[in-house]
Amino acid sequence: MSRVSVFAPASVANISCGFDVLGVCLDNVGDILHIEEVSKSGIEITEIIGQDLPLKATQNVAGVAGLALLADYGHNKGFQIQIEKGIKPGSGIGSSSASAAGAVVGINHLLGNPYTREQLIAFAMEGERVACGTAHADNVSPVLLGGFTLVRSVNPLDVVTLNSPLELVFTIIHPEIEVKTADARAVLLDKLHLKQAVAQTANLGALVTGLFKEDYELIRRSLVDHIVEPVRSMLIPGFNELKNRANEAGALGTGISGSGPSVFALSKGMDTAQKVGLAMQEVYDEIGVPYNTHISPINAKGVKIL
Ligand code: HSE
Repeated sequence: MSRVSVFAPASVANISCGFDVLGVCLDNVGDILHIEEVSKSGIEITEIIGQDLPLKATQNVAGVAGLALLADYGHNKGFQIQIEKGIKPGSGIGSSSASAAGAVVGINHLLGNPYTREQLIAFAMEGERVACGTAHADNVSPVLLGGFTLVRSVNPLDVVTLNSPLELVFTIIHPEIEVKTADARAVLLDKLHLKQAVAQTANLGALVTGLFKEDYELIRRSLVDHIVEPVRSMLIPGFNELKNRANEAGALGTGISGSGPSVFALSKGMDTAQKVGLAMQEVYDEIGVPYNTHISPINAKGVKIL
């Protein structure tokens, strides 16, 4: 076996109250990577279809993640990677994480799976470092493990898989502008008020509990962000109106997807998620912002070997 194709899904990080710690894997939007073992050692990115991204392995998230795995594994192995980008970079639904996670799952598969999915997180995080300057794990963890995950610590790496109620559906609206994660991180304040930290911790604990108890009202009450949303929402056209209309249409909660500009709404059931999508689209139609939308149940498995 010397060639494999993988589907690497998009993800939503932060989920309102879990900045840099919570994430969830989406189902029907993602990148496809074709990976082949070759005799020349190292990683070569042969082609990127759909987006203009660096081909040089040391500048490409999939290349960097793959090289991190190979540096640990040894044995002078080599792989070529072709990437079909289904996720737009800078859209806020884990574009770099999908490519990084897809690369390490595919290479690991061709090596005979020497690493567990949990162990692959550390390699995929190196891809995040090259993408935005910080090796955060809140997108790569759900993409590798599936469902909702919580990153308790990145050093040492400690990731917890949470319960993923089957009825939850995400509606994502992406205003067609690009916000680089590095820029969206640069606007954040370094210091917090104790009251903000207390409120955020309370909501995060309650949201995790709501997921485990499948208590949708508790999930609704907990989807509040006192720290990041007030600052970053200024980068997103019509954010407050999107949020109000999505929640009026029945969403449990609405917030910024990762570092934005995509906005997520979380709903119970597909019908509500679709109504919420229409309500959000109306907002952008009214103010003339071009957009695309995705409606996705939760993907409990993560990256898939095709
Ligand atoms: N937690 C990260 C952030 C996710 O919000 O900056 C970026 O994809």
